[in-house]
Amino acid sequence: MTRVFSGVKPTGHLTLGNYLGAMRRWAEVDQHAADALFCVVDLHALTVDHDPARVRRLSRQGATLLLASGLDPERCTVFVQSHVDEHARLSYLLECVATDGEMRRMIQYKEKAAREQRRGGSVRLSLLTYPVLMAADILAYGADEVPVGDDQRQHVELARDLAVRFNQRYGHTFVVPRATKPGVAARVMNLQDPASKMGKSDDVGPGIVYLLDEPDVVRRKVMRAVTDSGREVVYDREARPGLANLLEILAACTGGDPELLRGAYTSYGELKRDTAEAVVEMLRPVQQRHKELCADPAYVEGVLREGAERARGMARPTVDAAYRAIGLLPAVAEPAVAEREAAGAGV
Ligand code: AMP
Ligand code: TRP
Repeated sequence: MTRVFSGVKPTGHLTLGNYLGAMRRWAEVDQHAADALFCVVDLHALTVDHDPARVRRLSRQGATLLLASGLDPERCTVFVQSHVDEHARLSYLLECVATDGEMRRMIQYKEKAAREQRRGGSVRLSLLTYPVLMAADILAYGADEVPVGDDQRQHVELARDLAVRFNQRYGHTFVVPRATKPGVAARVMNLQDPASKMGKSDDVGPGIVYLLDEPDVVRRKVMRAVTDSGREVVYDREARPGLANLLEILAACTGGDPELLRGAYTSYGELKRDTAEAVVEMLRPVQQRHKELCADPAYVEGVLREGAERARGMARPTVDAAYRAIGLLPAVAEPAVAEREAAGAGV
């Protein structure tokens, strides 16, 4: 059975971009079709300035929203990254396989580091090595597929490169993963700035729809979305990015096609109204379930505890195998290896 792994960072409140680009497919497709693991990747949230209490709060909220979005712990494994030591253990080994140049070429690193420097802040070393930790997340579970939004494709490519390189140098240890993405809305843009991704780590803004926004807030944000000059409703991501974004959001919410949908509209106002309603309706059951789950925190904790246990059991053998392959002495000698080495073989 195909193994799937994906994750979401608790660096801010989850957005419509997270949902359409990733989470919805995890619940609707991946958990049914594959042996799937979904993780709140809290270690990744420490790569930028953070408030410890907020990260904890957002981790709990992220996990609750994953369940609210329809992930079923009977079908898939939902857990928190820091509950499973294997991620950090493997990350170090992969740092010994990755190169400095490779890390500095990562687009997200370049963007985030530049933003941090503009603010006069310092760049954490972990921001540079973050894609290696992400590769460890994926490789530890032998994932075949990694369902992510467009912005993560380069990181999944790196995970592939590291898997291939490790296997070539030290013997076959890792499955080589591939990224998968949704047909539409793989990159939801900020409603106020359609040139930038709708990112949850950005400053709170009227261009970001959060999954827990009240219906009226969602309506207001969509109705105020920046559209392009012109009157005709066309679907052109390059020339009319604001309009294209709305059409893609509407298409993703209603299961339609942006190119076909545009023909149904003669005004921007109508398009905005329908898009707002479609988003509100899509989020309604998620918000309802979220409310129910918040009333039962012990249930969510139980799911995470069991999820971490299951995840640990899956990651452990692969990470142990990587430790042996790369040349680390096992803490407990394995009889077969000890015997061969005592006989001087290959030393
Ligand atoms: P992150 O918020 O960076 O932890 O992302 C979690 C998942 O959501 C990843 O698979 C991202 O690619 C996806 N994602 C985040 N923002 C967007 C967006 N604006 N459009 C599409 N997918 C997104
Ligand atoms: N880096 C991803 C993001 O910012 C989150 C993530 C961490 C992830 N580890 C992962 C996604 C492993 C997929 C697989 O969105």
